[in-house]
Amino acid sequence: MTKIFGHRGSKGKYPENTLRSFQAALEEGADGLELDVHLTKDGEVIVIHDEALDRTTDGHGQIKDLTLEEIKQYSAGKRFPHFNKYDTTWDKERVPTLAEVLQLLSGTDIALNIELKTYIYTYPGIEEKLFSVVNEYGENRKIVYSSFHLPSLIRMKGIDPDADIALLLFSPISNPQDYIQTFDFESLHVAKDLLLQDTHKLFQDLYTKTRVWTVNDEEEILQLLKMGVNTIITDYPEKAVKLKKQN
Ligand code: G3P
Ligand code: CA
Repeated sequence: MTKIFGHRGSKGKYPENTLRSFQAALEEGADGLELDVHLTKDGEVIVIHDEALDRTTDGHGQIKDLTLEEIKQYSAGKRFPHFNKYDTTWDKERVPTLAEVLQLLSGTDIALNIELKTYIYTYPGIEEKLFSVVNEYGENRKIVYSSFHLPSLIRMKGIDPDADIALLLFSPISNPQDYIQTFDFESLHVAKDLLLQDTHKLFQDLYTKTRVWTVNDEEEILQLLKMGVNTIITDYPEKAVKLKKQN
């Protein structure tokens, strides 16, 4: 049965990649969470989408040039754009470490998709560090590592041969099955238009191994539920969970 993952938590309603957003996705009944990781100057794995603080926090600068302590000074909630629904408690949100997110999830069986944002900066050592954080705090959680950067995924597989790995794709490739077989990956994470247009034929034998992002439109969610894809990754987990229950 198709699973629903909350993209950066419950990004449509809460400041993305914050503990508040992850808590909301949990409460909304998501089967899993998606988040993005970078490495700080002092080697901490933190959860933020961009290479820099500027878009989602009130701080400035590249993650790789800042320590965790410096990053923690800034609010990760203040810049959330839904000002009409703004909740001032969000100001207190900080950029979380991956360890803090895993601690928040402790005792639940929610799955976690960790996207390595390694295509602009490669962050030497991020894969080893990630493995050690997940080892310490991951419990028996289902973890899927994904990235657009193939070398990062190959490194992850080398460090942990049992890891579930997914290549992110935003443009068509002629034989997607090759990527799974050649690198012993578990699945593909595919931009929604590749499955909602003619290119879906490339993936038709792989729907049960395909997670699709980022699907927010009701009709599109219904279409993908009907196709039986492995997972729908959405900014609105509450809506997708409801649609899944009704269909
Ligand atoms: O994991 C799917 C999706 O999150 C990739 O794109 O830019 O939202 O990280 P982006
Ligand atoms: Ca992502």
